[in-house]
Amino acid sequence: MNKLCSLTLATALLCAACYSSEKTSTGIGTRVDSVLALMTLDEKIGQLTLFTSDIDVTGPTMRENYKEDIKAGRVGAIFNAYGAAYTRKLQEIAVKETRLHIPLLFGYDVVHGHRTIFPMPLGEAASWDLAAVEKSARVAADEASAEGLHWTFAPMCDIARDPRWGRITEGAGEDVYLGSKIAAARVKGIQGDGVGSLNSVMACVKHFAAYGAAQAGRDYHTTDMSDRVLRETYLPPYKAALDAGAATVMTSFNEIDGVPATGNKYLMTDILRKEWNFTGFVVTDYTSIMEMIPHGIAEDTASAAALALEAGVDMDMQAGFYNDALAALVKAGKLKEGLIDEAVRRILRKKFELGLFDDPYRYSSEQREKETLMSAANLEAARDVARKAIVLLKNDKQLLPLEKDVKKLAVIGPLADARREMIGSWSAAGDWHKASTLLEGVKQAVSAGTQVLYAKGCAIDNDSTQAIAQAVRTAQQADVVILAVGEGAWMTGEAASRASLNIPGVQQRLIEAIYKTGKPVVAVLLNGRPLTIPWLDANIPAIVEAWLPGTMAGQAIADVLFGDYNPSGRLPVTFPRSVGQIPLYYSMKNTGRPMDPNNKYTSKYLDERNDPLYPFGYGLSYTTFSYGPVQVDKQEMTQQDELIVTCTVTNTGARAGKETVQLYLHDVTGSVTRPVRELKGFKQIELAPGASQNVTFKLTAHDLSFYRRDMSFGTEPGKFDVYIGPNARDTQGTAFALR
Ligand code: GLC
Repeated sequence: MNKLCSLTLATALLCAACYSSEKTSTGIGTRVDSVLALMTLDEKIGQLTLFTSDIDVTGPTMRENYKEDIKAGRVGAIFNAYGAAYTRKLQEIAVKETRLHIPLLFGYDVVHGHRTIFPMPLGEAASWDLAAVEKSARVAADEASAEGLHWTFAPMCDIARDPRWGRITEGAGEDVYLGSKIAAARVKGIQGDGVGSLNSVMACVKHFAAYGAAQAGRDYHTTDMSDRVLRETYLPPYKAALDAGAATVMTSFNEIDGVPATGNKYLMTDILRKEWNFTGFVVTDYTSIMEMIPHGIAEDTASAAALALEAGVDMDMQAGFYNDALAALVKAGKLKEGLIDEAVRRILRKKFELGLFDDPYRYSSEQREKETLMSAANLEAARDVARKAIVLLKNDKQLLPLEKDVKKLAVIGPLADARREMIGSWSAAGDWHKASTLLEGVKQAVSAGTQVLYAKGCAIDNDSTQAIAQAVRTAQQADVVILAVGEGAWMTGEAASRASLNIPGVQQRLIEAIYKTGKPVVAVLLNGRPLTIPWLDANIPAIVEAWLPGTMAGQAIADVLFGDYNPSGRLPVTFPRSVGQIPLYYSMKNTGRPMDPNNKYTSKYLDERNDPLYPFGYGLSYTTFSYGPVQVDKQEMTQQDELIVTCTVTNTGARAGKETVQLYLHDVTGSVTRPVRELKGFKQIELAPGASQNVTFKLTAHDLSFYRRDMSFGTEPGKFDVYIGPNARDTQGTAFALR
């Protein structure tokens, strides 16, 4: 080591020694600058580069060239690497074999659990239970941090109103208010006591922005919308997540208003940093800097890299374009090194906040790993969230709950014993072999005297009908049939758009063959998105939406089917009757010709109804609830007032139950047209049979505010309707005015 280098090293070690002194923001800023001052241009650019580990059946592995990149200081972060021993090994390369010993960040897609897998996020959102949502994220972060991870690429906050888009499964559905509440709850769970606490990881708000508005529901497709729709519908959940303290943001693949998000300065700087004062760092999605070339907005590596950095993007995931092009751009005077310094500062700041300069190995504890992963408490939490996510869609003649001592019970269908499907997509380090199936859950739940029969009936999505006859024979022997149908894990999530929303393959043939046996049938849907099931709804007496429930799938579904848990889930997304209705969501505009069945020239179809099969917020219970009239404490309110809205809800059934009381608002006239209703509040109440509760909501001027004609955010005087009910359709209401 030459004299200069040893002097530099001494300086660095001296700085490293001072690292552990100051943890305040100013102190960290000083320490960041002290490291930055030592860095060469190449070392700075290395901090802006994120490469993937590989995940083989034996677990994460690192390509040899990436190890060389780490040693050469050309990598600042690695994703898809987890495990205390493995992350320690990689960290040792960075800390011991590089000139400045700057530790790596380890990130991973811990989206709905790390080892213990919770329901797909859309299903979890159906719980409307913010405490449960936060708990799920908390368990995930606890397990992830125990395996050496510092950072998760979650929560996904993309509003989605097109179920053809497979990634609708990763978010919280169609609604701005619910989506914002859930985004914040997920960040709180992920970051827990704050970035740097040992059982937390950094959150990453994705995919910024409006990725869920992909045209035709086709993944990665163009999004295009007015600034008003962007700000009113798509941005709020990202903002809620950032207001909850999210440390990082991920750019989305899509273009918006003609500019890909990864090169979109309006999004990444004007809105994110100038309007929202975001101080964390921005990472691209996978190779999305490179993708600006096929997008047609950059002609080569250098122009794509410059466009991203100048837009405000700090870290390049997997494209390697920053590594390849930034140094030459700076040396040629085409890019200011100060831009690179700003990006490096944001990233180093997070490494300091995580305590990695004090102890680079603090998250890589094999002891914590053993104590934390898939603990009994974590599995119980997963079961609890999974059953709270389940939505009872139909229950004619109270077929459900089933008796545990039924003599013969047939469990039929391609999802009945489909272990891998239960943990869905983006299932991180989840081991699907450890997931329970519906068949297993039923067997565990029924009495010793019950005979449980099983037949697969058909595959999830191929066209073989050979096994249907056997399934019919099995059903004919049973007293009641549980029919498990739906989608495969690979059919939801990224790059999984579908042009049809029917139950795939020949499952409908199986369903109708089982129906013809005349046996009582309970259909259990296991799927990652709304499906078009009008035939099922018209013919099958009981239907349960169980989503893709995670590690504890079998137990959670059985808890509901046999009544150990009274289903309380409510749909976070509209279920259309047919794919032709899409986009279909409750908070639509009225149009100048609202549908009138007696007038041809109004907004409707020749061949389909306008209304959904099941509306947003819909879900049944094993009991029933009634709603009294909606009352307001004043007919007129001012900007300064609070409006108190109340409604008495009564459990009119024979068993206790949880009801999600929802409040919707309709601004009758505005300087721009307003949705026919918008969710502005919800409360979950538990009522014993016969009990009533006066449910109260408070509305303020902020709740009545919107982006007015001139794009200013605020209220306008006029009439409002306020509704309360169990979903977006079956409501009661009253009116008031804002002066
Ligand atoms: C993927 C996804 C993104 C994920 C990232 C890293 O392509 O779009 O959600 O976090 O790459 O795996």
